[in-house]
Amino acid sequence: MRMALRFIVPLLLVLAGIAWATTPILSDLIQRWFRADVELRAQLVFDSINDTVAREVKESDGPRIDLLFQRITRDERLLALGLCAPNGRLTHRSPSWPKTLGCPPRALRVPAFTVAARGDGTVLTAAFPLGEDGNDLGDLVIVHDLSFSERRGATLERYLTVFLALLGVLIAGVTVAVALVMRRNWVQAVRKGLAPVVAGDAPERTPEPAIAGLVAEMREMLRDLDVPRGISEAIRVDWNPDTLQNLLKSELPGAEVIVVSNREPYIHNREGDTIHVQRPASGLVTALEPITRACGGTWIAHGSGSADAETVDRQDHIQVPPEAPAYTLRRVWLSDEEQEGYYYGLANEGLWPLCHIVFVRPTFRASDWEQYVAVNRKFAEAVVAEAKSPNPLVLVQDYHFALLPQMVRERLPGATIITFWHIPWPNPEVFGICPWREEILQGLLGSTILGFHTQFHCLNFLDSVDRFLECRIDREQSTARTGGRTTLVRPYPISIEWPPSALVGQPSVPECRAKVRRDYELDPNVLLAVGVERFDYTKGIADRFRAVENLLEHHPEWIGRFTLLQIAAPTRSSLPAYRQTQAEAEAVATGVNQRFGRPGWWPIALVARHHEPEQVFTLFRAADLCLVSSLHDGMNLVAKEFVAARDDDDGVLVLSSFAGVSRELLEALIVNPYDSSAMGEAMHRALLMPREQRRDRMHLMRALVAEHNIYFWAGRMLLEAARLRKRQRIQDQIVQVTAPFTWRRGGGSR
Ligand code: F6P
Repeated sequence: MRMALRFIVPLLLVLAGIAWATTPILSDLIQRWFRADVELRAQLVFDSINDTVAREVKESDGPRIDLLFQRITRDERLLALGLCAPNGRLTHRSPSWPKTLGCPPRALRVPAFTVAARGDGTVLTAAFPLGEDGNDLGDLVIVHDLSFSERRGATLERYLTVFLALLGVLIAGVTVAVALVMRRNWVQAVRKGLAPVVAGDAPERTPEPAIAGLVAEMREMLRDLDVPRGISEAIRVDWNPDTLQNLLKSELPGAEVIVVSNREPYIHNREGDTIHVQRPASGLVTALEPITRACGGTWIAHGSGSADAETVDRQDHIQVPPEAPAYTLRRVWLSDEEQEGYYYGLANEGLWPLCHIVFVRPTFRASDWEQYVAVNRKFAEAVVAEAKSPNPLVLVQDYHFALLPQMVRERLPGATIITFWHIPWPNPEVFGICPWREEILQGLLGSTILGFHTQFHCLNFLDSVDRFLECRIDREQSTARTGGRTTLVRPYPISIEWPPSALVGQPSVPECRAKVRRDYELDPNVLLAVGVERFDYTKGIADRFRAVENLLEHHPEWIGRFTLLQIAAPTRSSLPAYRQTQAEAEAVATGVNQRFGRPGWWPIALVARHHEPEQVFTLFRAADLCLVSSLHDGMNLVAKEFVAARDDDDGVLVLSSFAGVSRELLEALIVNPYDSSAMGEAMHRALLMPREQRRDRMHLMRALVAEHNIYFWAGRMLLEAARLRKRQRIQDQIVQVTAPFTWRRGGGSR
């Protein structure tokens, strides 16, 4: 429609201009024709009455002249007749002679024609010399009414205008019809030309000569974007920081990377006179930090450390990692009130239990929501402020920022926004209890790509969108389209860096075994299980203690020969559910220790404090088995870190079936953490597993983590983003090329 107007309106304007310019000329021409016609008529009248009038004049028969004039002027167009004497006096006239009209200028040998105004119209006076043989009898004046010719001229003008208008519409209609046919043929030709590439196996066809060049170019670009090829290449590649950097350079040249997360990768804390740098116990940070180190750019996060403010510059920037700066950390400051409502309230008392479904009731408060909206806006503003280009690559992390993608999209429409949801996504029934479900879904759909750990969570998300929003879902392509924009919803199982930097400088496995047993005052001969987490109710810490109890109860041979060393970093401790979790775990551990402990040996060693990654890796290397008993977990990177730490191909992983990682590490002993008796049996099996089997299992798991490392995780998303950017560019070009033929309804999207 827009194009039709774009074409038809100028055409009509041109035709109107033509009508406006030509109508007066034509009208003048017509008037002249009429006047010539009237002059001819006057001549005819004169020729037919000349002799009679001359005779009557010679005979001086005035009454007969008057009578003759009266009879002749019955013709409606012949207005009046008069006789002007040689002295210029009007001697005879028909009764219709206009009162204001005198004798016109004299006709000397030839007739004299004059146009004169009369009342509401004009008249033509034609003066003919009367008499012969040099005998001057004066002039016979014939007066014709010209107003009828004016009326006819006006009528003609009207008809002409209507005619031109109809002609204009006709031309426009025919032109549009021709354009439509041409456009259809053109698009068919392009499609035909591109068909072999899009269809993959279809035989090559020769494109229409007119579009051969364009088709060749587009084919080449689309070949580059061929998805299966891209992914298979991704699988073959040895993914490391260099591959990622090269990928950025070649596929996303000049792209500016901005990471947004709540948790910062480096926390500066003051202890007395010294400032300590801490790396938080966060799967998110573990995964994202090596990537940002490789890609450079800016990481925007909440400055939560007690010395954070004193270590930044005036733009709230600090270059990190401290030992070898590779990217900028931009800290955002939150008030206690904001922190309370956004982080503790909506994020951790609302969304966290909502998404994990571990039977802790989510709490939703309107005041928390207000803070959540405000903080999302604050971070979105920070993204806009940090962006140096109109189309940065924004990597949004986690459930703290569900609204931020849409907020950034509004301010930077050209941005490529990749959002990753690090926790599970529940089914629509569960998600539906959130009072702000529509806002959260809309916010996330501001993303270009939305990633989850598993296909199951992607499907849950699409089902939720389907249930609560007006949206077009394509399950085959795994996309959701709303407001003229499409979001790709894909599983990207997160991972860890390979080889892990925490492994560098680690003592040998026997040394680690000895060191850990020494450091934690354990019997040097016990078989050791380790658990490493934040003190979170989703981790099933008390459940694994119960499993230890079951193990010792059903297999007492392990009493005095086995210990579980549980490291638990206190987290979100101001929330009642977290305090209860810690209290419950401590109570269960105490109970088991009281029941089975002996002087110099206890089955459970619970250490509730933060450990740096290197310390954790030493623990993993010292252990015979690692317990991951999450009641529900998006992925769980502890399992992958344990595998990464075991370069001796030893150790057994006991893994919850409710952690996303259980879909990848199939060689672990998979357990149901709600069934502590079965978990106890799995531990028994793990402790007895022969060395060869341990090696085979660990070998396979290490191969998987090595290949599907964190660079692979990021690389796949970046490749996808690059593909979408290129597709968008091609689409923009197609729109430009086809624009003159296209009736477009909506805008494009990125
Ligand atoms: O699983 C979600 C997550 O963001 C993890 O990445 C991380 O382990 C944890 O939550 C961090 O929680 P917080 O930042 O609240 O300590």
